[in-house]
Amino acid sequence: MTERKRVGVLISGRGSNMSALIEACKKPSYPAEIILVISNRSEAAGLDIAAVAGIATRVIDHRKYPSREAFEADLDAALRAAKVDIICMAGFMRLLTKGFVEAWRDRQLNIHPSLLPAFKGLDTHERVIAAGMKISGCTVHFVRTEMDAGPIIAQAKIPVLPEDSPGDLAARVLEAEHKLYPQALKLVASGSARVEGERVIHDRSPD
Ligand code: GRF
Repeated sequence: MTERKRVGVLISGRGSNMSALIEACKKPSYPAEIILVISNRSEAAGLDIAAVAGIATRVIDHRKYPSREAFEADLDAALRAAKVDIICMAGFMRLLTKGFVEAWRDRQLNIHPSLLPAFKGLDTHERVIAAGMKISGCTVHFVRTEMDAGPIIAQAKIPVLPEDSPGDLAARVLEAEHKLYPQALKLVASGSARVEGERVIHDRSPD
């Protein structure tokens, strides 16, 4: 096998998507390994999960920096010091500026709990239900400066049931997220997904 890609995961909270990526990376044939988990919040539950899995963790608290750029400079330095190839945002609740996003262009992934480009932003499931959508889902995409936008790597669809509360729908979408994110990272890390004209082209279909 060619060398595994080195992944840095950015979290702010519970880290269930990060956990799914950690699980996937345990498979020897998986083309990526998680080198570092960074949280902007010291109380993020995901930090303990990563530490228990034997992964290096860092807290880089945005509130301690005078500007977004200063915060991102340290984030960037930590990722580069760990020789990270690919960043996976997994519930990381900070918008990143153009400088950071461009520096990691096509090497930075995000997961969002809707079928983008529909329902960007927060309170996704409430808005999906209020709109009377019959289908929702999740998307893994390359990060661009605009929030929840960028070339789509993979999507999974989930039916919206008439009796669904936002919590019910969130739980079913989250299950799909945990399958989709490892598949999407595999595509990128193995080099079988590439960006052409802001669309992602796959050399072969995901497993
Ligand atoms: C997920 O729903 C993800 O799609 C969104 O934030 C949530 C993070 O959950 N970006 P977790 O921290 O991975 O459990």
